[in-house]
Amino acid sequence: MKRIVIFASGSGSNAENIIQYFWRRPKEAIQFEIYTNNEHAGVVKRAQRLHIPCALITKEQFNDSSFADHLGEVDLIVLAGFLWMIPEYMVQKYENKIINIHPALLPDYGGKGMYGDKVHRSVLDNKESQSGITIHYVNEAYDEGKIILQARCAVSKDDSIDTLAKKVHDLEYIYFPIVVEQLINE
Ligand code: GRF
Repeated sequence: MKRIVIFASGSGSNAENIIQYFWRRPKEAIQFEIYTNNEHAGVVKRAQRLHIPCALITKEQFNDSSFADHLGEVDLIVLAGFLWMIPEYMVQKYENKIINIHPALLPDYGGKGMYGDKVHRSVLDNKESQSGITIHYVNEAYDEGKIILQARCAVSKDDSIDTLAKKVHDLEYIYFPIVVEQLINE
């Protein structure tokens, strides 16, 4: 059985979407686990509802290389709205096995501090005609790993942060599970 470990700091809608996607494909039985750095994050409640193990990690645990021994062998690590930088020991141990989703078209609107609504606000402030998603491998620098897939949406002059966020989330829900499925079957 394949094993996917999801890290999430927020609502966890992408985490749930990926899990539900595989549950609709019973042939692809996957063992899921979730880690979060935020005990109040929505992802914790989702995990409880879905009966997926969800553990809280502290920064000290996460930055200690013994955490990789604890994690063990995984088929894929999926960052689904996870705000901490991935430590070097993890990038090295899980080379090409950690992926992230970013709610814009990297390399634009990426880097430290660019997450959530800040990304969409900047896109709107700059009057971009399009935005989208980037799914990429994770390396030692924020949002700079090799790009696996980008998908675009139009930005209209009537868009607000909320309407743009919805367009981007809709793309995430379509493409993120498909990319995860492709990678674990490579
Ligand atoms: C997504 O927009 C993703 O692109 C970004 O964080 C957000 C997570 O949303 N990295 P959710 O917690 O999955 O709803």
